[in-house]
Order: sequence, then structure tokens, then C-alpha cells
Amino acid sequence: MQDLLAKFSRQLLINPYPAYHVLRKLDPVHWSDSWQSWFITRYDDVAALMKDARLSVGQVSNFSHRLTGQGSSPEQLQEAQLRLKTIEKWLASFLLFTDPPAHTRLRALISKAFTPRSVELLGPTIQERVDRLLQPLKTGDVVDLMQAIAIPLPVMTIADFLGSRPQDFRELQGWSHDLASFLGNEQLTPEVVGRSLESLEGMAGYFTALMQERRGQPQDDLMSRLLQAQHEGTTLQESEILSMCILLFGAGHDTTTNFIANGLLALLQHPSESAKVVLQPERIDRAVEEVLRYDSPSLIASRFVVQEVQLGDKVLRPGDSLNLCMGAANRDPAQFPEPDKFSLERQDSNHIPFGRGIHFCVGSFLAKLEARTVFASFLKRWPRSRLAAPPERIPTLAFRRLKNLKVELIA
Ligand code: HEM
Repeated sequence: MQDLLAKFSRQLLINPYPAYHVLRKLDPVHWSDSWQSWFITRYDDVAALMKDARLSVGQVSNFSHRLTGQGSSPEQLQEAQLRLKTIEKWLASFLLFTDPPAHTRLRALISKAFTPRSVELLGPTIQERVDRLLQPLKTGDVVDLMQAIAIPLPVMTIADFLGSRPQDFRELQGWSHDLASFLGNEQLTPEVVGRSLESLEGMAGYFTALMQERRGQPQDDLMSRLLQAQHEGTTLQESEILSMCILLFGAGHDTTTNFIANGLLALLQHPSESAKVVLQPERIDRAVEEVLRYDSPSLIASRFVVQEVQLGDKVLRPGDSLNLCMGAANRDPAQFPEPDKFSLERQDSNHIPFGRGIHFCVGSFLAKLEARTVFASFLKRWPRSRLAAPPERIPTLAFRRLKNLKVELIA
């Protein structure tokens, strides 16, 4: 079978959905020579493999193969390799890249600190921030909603939740942006690696100082709860708290930015569906779920095979790399009739935007709360807005990112 990933490489990076349909139809368990990885695109397979203990996330934190030396000297490349090793050491300590039993313990501890109730309590603060970000925008203006709200809100929210000071948001946003660019970049230049390490170290220094402050004077924030969390007689070590804080920014900032942006875009492109929310605001939760299915910010979850897996006539052997294409699963017509249609009438909420099983997203409630607040507040103010220019995408395989979202605000 021809390497379909190579054939559709450009489309997969910009608009992956037509290519996903071809992959799913022709070869739903597909080996790509160019990516040296399996690509799984059927809903049932993705849902089942997400929970399969024969797969591991252990080696997913290995990014060395992504380093590209084009235009760099051998010395620069060597230095970048050393820096990459330091970054990989950090990444290997992240919950996301940890298997049981280490994962089980860490997950239990974060679950004690990051409860649905603690997220719910953030509701009024998020609404206040959304109102403040939207307040300077005027009807008739053409604005880039990425800059106006989709980028700043998630970083402010995680920072509020953790207990950071508002004057530190800008610095945290820069660091977190660098980390997200690193995680979502299929080709890493020495420059990107250097910047990412600086940002990781910047974040580590920042959170170490915040940790010391909260140790002396606990407050009602996540940092204080992480310091107090206990499970079966164990607590989190300082290095584990640091990794957790950095991961929360890395995993929760860029994804939520794109959730908000992809959602606003879908609502603008489907005025008859957004009109339903305007007329019946209680339908906002349906809109949030449909955005997550239709254009999820996180398209792929990566795994490695530790124990042989047979899928139909394909054998996945130990050591093989695997990409579970959640974006393809969420558009599988066998699960979602007319999958390319954005519709609030859909009742099935079994889509997979946040993964499944032991690595199910810790921040799903928080992300949905932010998106719901933005969509509702935006539609209330400017229900008849329209796109002022075709939005540009940032090409990546694993994420669904927008570069800009220019909109004319119409009440
Ligand atoms: C729309 C926004 C988001 C999306 C689409 C998303 C997506 C995901 C996905 C797919 C996974 C599982 C990855 C895998 O199985 O390999 C995951 C895990 C995770 N997410 Fe999210 N996420 C979002 C927002 C957030 C937020 C706001 C936070 C925290 C502030 C967060 C923190 C995490 C953490 C810590 C994990 C690792 C859980 C574990 O390994 O046990 N995410 N996320």
C-alpha cells in the first residue's frame, strides 16, 4: 500500500478531514514509511486503543528525531542535541508521558487538587475576565479574535487557578507559547530548541518561587492544594509539582486557545446554528460539544506498542509507534451520521476530543467552562458578526491551530 501520509502531507497539515476520510476508507490501520508510524482512523479502533494497556506513552517524550539541522553549523546542532536531552528529561516527568504505576500515583494526587468543584468556583472570575477582554471592542470594528480573547483568556485562567499574580501573565504567556510550539512542532530547529529550554527554565524558576511563597502561606489556589495533596500516605515532591505546573500550561493553554478560536469560527461559518443559541441560550452546551467533535484542537494522541496487538489483518509489534487520530474518529460516518455537518441537532456526545482511559484530560471541565463563557458572551453582544478575511491555519499534524481570526463585529 502506498504511503498515504506522504501523498496527503500538505492537506493533512492544513485541512486534514478529507484526507482522514480517504485513509479510513482505504486503510484504516495504516503504516506510513515517511512518519515511521501507524495511523489509526476508525472511531471504534481509536476508542478501544485509548484504553489498551498493551500501549505505552513512555517513549512519546522522545523528540530527538524531530531535530532538523538545515542551515545550522555542526556545533550549533551538537549544542541543540544537548539542550534537547535536557528538555526530554523534563518531559519524561510529565504525567502525560508516564505509564502506571508512576502515573497512577501522580494522577491520584493531581485529582485531589484539581477537582470539578475547584474549577466550578472559577466561573465568576472567568466571566469577569471575558467581559474585560471584550469590553474595549466596539460594534463595527474589525478585530482579530485570536489576539483579543482566544490567546489571552486561557493563560489568564490557568494562571489565576494556580495562584499567579496578574502582572506575571504576559511572561507566562510567552513561556507557555514556546512550550506549546515545541510540543506541536514536527520539525525542531536549534533556535526553537534553545528558546524552548529557556522558557522551561523560566517557568521552573517562576513556579519554584511561587511554591516557596505558598509553603509559608497557603491560599485558596491550585499551588497550595498541590502542596497539601496526599494519597496513600504520599505527597507530591517539589520536582513533581514543578513538572505538573509546567504541564498544566503546556497542555492547557494552546489547546484551549484553539478550542475557543475553532469554536468561534464554526459558529461564524454556520449562522443558522449560532442563531439557535441566540434564541435559546440553554443550547450553549450542545454547541460546545459539537465544536469539540467537529473541529477538535487536539487531533492525535501518540503511543508505543509494548505487547503485540492484532487489528484485522495488521500486526502492531512491540516498539512500533502509533498515532491515534481522534480528529478522524470524530468524523467517522459509522459513528456520526453526516460527520462533516456542524449541527446542534446531534445527540451523540461520544466524541473523543480529550482522550479516553487513564490519560483522559485533567482540564476538560476547565476548557469547556472557558469556551462556553466566550461563545455565550460573544453571541450575546455580536450575534450577526461575520468573517472579515479567510482565517489562516498554522500547519501541524497533531493540533488544529489558527494563526488569526479577523471578524467584523455586528450586533
Ligand atoms: C480544549 C482544550 C483541551 C484539549 C483538546 C485537551 C486534550 C487532551 C488530550 C487529548 C489528552 C490525552 C492525551 C493522551 O491520551 O495522549 C489530554 C491530557 C491532559 N490534559 Fe488536556 N486538553 C485540553 C485542555 C486542558 C487544560 C485546560 C488542562 C489543564 C489546565 C489540561 C491538562 C491536561 C493534562 C494534565 C493531561 C494529562 C493527563 C494524564 O496523562 O493523566 N488540558 N488533554
